[in-house]
Amino acid sequence: MKTLRVAVLMHEALVPPEKAESEAAKTAAPWRTEYDVLTSLRAMGHEAWPVGAGDDLEPVRRALDERRPDIVFNLLEEFRGSRTYAPYVPAYLDLIGQPYTGCNPRGMILSHSKALANRILRSHRVRVPDFALFERDRRIRRPRRLSFPLLVKSATEHGSVGISQASIVRDDEQLRQRVEMVHAQLGTDAVAEQYIEGREFYVGVLGNRRLETLPVWELTFENLPDNVPNIATARVKWDAQYQKSRGVTTGEARDLSEPQRVHLLRMCKRAYRALDQSGYARMDLRQSAEGDMYLLECNHNPQLALGEDFADSAHAAGLPYAKLLQRILNLGLRQRAQAHE
Ligand SMILES: Nc1ncnc2c1ncn2[C@@H]1O[C@H](COP(=O)(O)OP(=O)(O)O)[C@@H](O)[C@H]1O
Ligand SMILES: [Mg+2]
Repeated sequence: MKTLRVAVLMHEALVPPEKAESEAAKTAAPWRTEYDVLTSLRAMGHEAWPVGAGDDLEPVRRALDERRPDIVFNLLEEFRGSRTYAPYVPAYLDLIGQPYTGCNPRGMILSHSKALANRILRSHRVRVPDFALFERDRRIRRPRRLSFPLLVKSATEHGSVGISQASIVRDDEQLRQRVEMVHAQLGTDAVAEQYIEGREFYVGVLGNRRLETLPVWELTFENLPDNVPNIATARVKWDAQYQKSRGVTTGEARDLSEPQRVHLLRMCKRAYRALDQSGYARMDLRQSAEGDMYLLECNHNPQLALGEDFADSAHAAGLPYAKLLQRILNLGLRQRAQAHE
């Protein structure tokens, strides 16, 4: 394996310490992914260093100019405090001919907007929940074809920001209140989707042209009262204590029939291509009680920390962390070559 010079691009506030004080301190830290990627790349023999980005592109430009990496490992999820600007960073890297890992700017723009992604997916025969977009400063009027219950979420936020049990609405008054909450508190447009009651799955996909899917992962709750819906609220995703009390776990999905599994994985690959993804992505899906599979969203450059779904499911597929990171680096190096074919 060739030793690479890797600049790990990350938010300036997430540049990790050289060494985590303890495993526990690391687990709770916001820079967990950044730490895991940096330390693992070094352990693999690569020369890896962090480049912090904030409000200004100039320091990034200078940092890349000074050390001329073979590749940028792109962990940047926002720029100048906004996710909307995140695609322009790899766009800049494309312009200066700098190879990087993960998604290309076009794929980032397409998967960033849930409404745009849903429209594209539908036209590619990928089943998505029926939905309506509620833009800020517009009257909130439910299209008649959309019936309750609905799930209201931000059109552009990620990581279950703004998702709680109250996101599931059962009448027009609740719908209006929740959409207004998303507009006012998250400052984004909102989408209301047909609520899919059923199982929830996550599927990792790797590749640029030839795609590989990771094993189907499922979110499960051991102690969820009957009247509480099994959705990934912000607490379910981020609150360790709550996870314990509800018995939240994720692991390889059981009892999926072979045709269901094949259908699911094909659907994920079709979505990946339809949304122009590259490098790696994670699809979030739900299966209705009738057995229909719906794609909820495509996450470009998904959470890569050790012990999280993407890395865990890669491990189960025979790609332990170092191999996974190497695969992502190789795809990044190849992506640029392909762009010039
Ligand atoms: N249409 C839906 N039906 C049922 N549950 C949903 C629906 N949309 C979102 N959810 C729940 O909310 C969670 C977060 O929604 P998602 O679209 O994945 O946004 P995020 O970007 O915040 O992860 C999902 O993991 C799922 O549990
Ligand atoms: Mg999600």
